[in-house]
Amino acid sequence: MCGIVGYIGGRDVVPVLLGGLSKLEYRGYDSAGIAVVKSGRLEIHKTKGRLSKLQDILKGFAASDTVGIGHTRWATHGEPSYENSHPHANCAGDIAVVHNGIIENYMKLKQWLIEQGAKFISQTDTEVVAHLINHFYVGDLLDAVTKAVAHLEGSYALGVVSDKHPDTLIAARKDSPLVVGIGDGENLIASDIPALLEYTRDVYFLNDKEIAVLGKDAITIYDEYGQTQQRESYHVEWDVSQAEKGGYEHFMIKEIHEEPRVMADTFFPRYRDGMIDLCEIGIDKQTVENTKKINIIACGTAYHAGMVGKYIIEELARIPVEVEVASEFRYRQPIIDPGQLVIIISQSGETADTLAAMREAKKRGAKIVAVVNVVGSTISREADAVLYTHAGPEIAVASTKAYNTQLMAIYMIALELARLSDTIDAAEYTRLVIGLSSVPALMNDILKTKEQLQKFACCNFSQSSVFFIGRGLDYVLSMEASLKLKEISYIHSEAYAAGELKHGTIALIEEGTLVVAIATQQKLLEKTVSNIKEVKARGARVLAVCFEGCGVPDDVADETVYLPKVDDVFAPLLAVTPMQLFAYYMAVEKGCDVDKPRNLAKSVTVE
Ligand code: AGP
Repeated sequence: MCGIVGYIGGRDVVPVLLGGLSKLEYRGYDSAGIAVVKSGRLEIHKTKGRLSKLQDILKGFAASDTVGIGHTRWATHGEPSYENSHPHANCAGDIAVVHNGIIENYMKLKQWLIEQGAKFISQTDTEVVAHLINHFYVGDLLDAVTKAVAHLEGSYALGVVSDKHPDTLIAARKDSPLVVGIGDGENLIASDIPALLEYTRDVYFLNDKEIAVLGKDAITIYDEYGQTQQRESYHVEWDVSQAEKGGYEHFMIKEIHEEPRVMADTFFPRYRDGMIDLCEIGIDKQTVENTKKINIIACGTAYHAGMVGKYIIEELARIPVEVEVASEFRYRQPIIDPGQLVIIISQSGETADTLAAMREAKKRGAKIVAVVNVVGSTISREADAVLYTHAGPEIAVASTKAYNTQLMAIYMIALELARLSDTIDAAEYTRLVIGLSSVPALMNDILKTKEQLQKFACCNFSQSSVFFIGRGLDYVLSMEASLKLKEISYIHSEAYAAGELKHGTIALIEEGTLVVAIATQQKLLEKTVSNIKEVKARGARVLAVCFEGCGVPDDVADETVYLPKVDDVFAPLLAVTPMQLFAYYMAVEKGCDVDKPRNLAKSVTVE
């Protein structure tokens, strides 16, 4: 996934583009570039490596015109290199393009363009778009872009400029996010809202296959047939500071510290008169009666939230739940009953696999409820109903606060389903809702474990492999704990059902192997303690996570993190944060780039 920006207006365009790209670097950071018009000529400046390298190259550079586009890349086609970095241009060098997405038919188009005389210098799919626009260009840039994108298969968010049209910036999108910023005497485009907030809070969200033509004082949106489209603008409420580090060393640790607030922001607006009000998702008794099975579909961390959802929905509402990674669901001819509930979970609302899986489920007649963080994202706009998490912008590539708010949302849905299914009585419903309402305040106590975890990480960051074990809800939570460690510290890790270890994997436990045992489920505690003793007997070092006063005996684990006691069913909401802190400090001790881990991107908008 990549980040694109574009600007047209009265400012010097170079700092605007570089500033916008700095807000999007979490989307991809293996190369960066800009294209601007200077003295009537299009100039492209780009480099392999981080945005800071491009900023050094452009120190003191000023464009004479005030239109341009910029790009920060997460390589899909062609390794990170100068030639493969964006923007890409036509042979004449007077049309430039930046792109986020994948053009699936680019090889066929490239072959045809070469036969028409085009000379390619990169291995990218994007360069095809520049030459295709050139092919159709006979003086009308909008017409050329419209004809070019009609030939594209796959996903794209495009920014297009030309020195033959210095008063125009064109944007087009299909399946990749693109937001249009509405300024005063200036207008912008970007892959995500943080890149626009310095200039405007008012935006248009482009629909698939739409094309926007931006001038300094006007924005026109067209559909794929050239018909102008009316569009309501959206006013962004959250502020730039939420998209800044705010004095923390990394976005990730800042976002972990935001968890008490954002979990409260997700819960309390929907909590009134002792009830949870989910009218926004329109689940009624009829939906529940139609639903013999619920599918939860997501990727990565969102999938792990779905796994917790399975356990709590089945426990509370007694409805069978099937959880699946979107990349599998979309290709396996899934069985979905018309009218049944399908829950889609996605922080960005743009993950390609999750979007495609949702469309597959919709084709089969499912009622789609999406749990999404980014307002106006594609998934949020195509779902039948949306339950927005209020985590605010999550900049760190490794998801933390968004996962916590996804859990809050899933718990609310589970309680609503249980209430509508009458599987819990009014007293139990009230008790559980009050229990859930107490969680955000308890998170402040959880954050106090950070010193303990930092010390433990100092002594254990050289581990080559870590096992996370647990039973029941502790097991599904350990999946997220394991992913967090892997993706930011690059330490291999595995989440394992504690009861399953003895069926083979315990052979890997040897002297000094680090095992993290999550042991909050009281009815399974004895079994989990036995599993801890089993691995200890084979030389493992054990970090245990349990409730204070009813957890793992002091002499069992090498280190124990105690959580304030809540009902077992809410344990994941509390226990995940120490695991996020553990992963964070392990990565910091290893000197890893915590916010922008290698090979990753914040939202995987490509397959
Ligand atoms: C989260 O730590 C990961 N970076 C990744 O697994 C992420 O959760 C996954 O790509 C899904 O993203 P989404 O929630 O935006 O759909």
